[in-house]
Amino acid sequence: MKGIILAGGRATRLFPITKGTCKQLLPVYDKPMIFYPLSVLMLAGIRDILIISTPHDLPNFKNIFHDGSHLGISISYKEQLKPAGLAEAFILGEDFIGGDSVCMILGDNIFYGDQLSGLLKRNVNLQEGGSVFAYNVVNPQRYGVVEFSDDGKPQQVVEKPEHPKSNWAVTGIYFFDHNVTDVARNVKPSARGELEITDVINSYMTKGKCHVEFLGRGMAWLDTGTYDSLIDAGLFIKIIEERQGLKIGCVEEIAYREKFISKEQLLKLADEYKTSYGDYLNRVVDFRYDL
Ligand code: DAU
Repeated sequence: MKGIILAGGRATRLFPITKGTCKQLLPVYDKPMIFYPLSVLMLAGIRDILIISTPHDLPNFKNIFHDGSHLGISISYKEQLKPAGLAEAFILGEDFIGGDSVCMILGDNIFYGDQLSGLLKRNVNLQEGGSVFAYNVVNPQRYGVVEFSDDGKPQQVVEKPEHPKSNWAVTGIYFFDHNVTDVARNVKPSARGELEITDVINSYMTKGKCHVEFLGRGMAWLDTGTYDSLIDAGLFIKIIEERQGLKIGCVEEIAYREKFISKEQLLKLADEYKTSYGDYLNRVVDFRYDL
């Protein structure tokens, strides 16, 4: 399975913070936001990853990740000229996806929970159809929302409904088979002029081919779309990291634990950061594996 991180858009809701940089490079406590979705793909065991962003921001992602080989993965890059909608990622990624299934994750989505790895690994072998993760929220109007049939089966997903029929928001991680590019090409721009991801999901769902995983109480799916939620996300990460002495979304650690890189490679990466982050990477090699 291939992985796509969609990390473009204008993030006008965070102006002036995002006037000079994109949202996905803003810090969430001790690392850039994009580390969190990248770590999710890596935890799923996905090693071939395409980052899509604006022509202005893409060079900054390249400065951070280069070709990904230091993390034992392959990272390539593609420009999205305008924020034409999430579904456009599958069209821009057509050559990259080829005949494989793909997991797309939004570059501003942060997931945390000890069931996450299992959940990802369950979906990463998807060969046919699609799979999305839903999360119970108090403000479903802001998201794609799952609607259910009378017998409780997911029936369709509605984008930002004024009167949501459930509290189950579709999160920004999507698994689809290789047909997704054709499906996305058939999507028509919505009233707001975007190729909506919900239309892609519904195309699979109406054929009974889209599975919904319902994330439970033990999982965190954090919002980063407002000044307050951004700082709350940073504080959440800080509190858990300080309490446990273990980092969240630490891509170098995950690369080592997933055996994408050796102990020597990890220690070399640790050497590059003369910070507590670097000290942490030095300690990772001594952790018990089950931590
Ligand atoms: O976070 C989950 C939600 O993400 C889903 O529940 C919704 O169904 C989905 O439409 C999306 O809603 P948002 O309101 O968060 O979408 P937004 O336009 O803010 O875009 C999400 C991220 O993707 C954001 O960081 C910007 C980036 N983006 C967006 C568009 C439209 C792109 O990189 N390119 C784009 O063309």
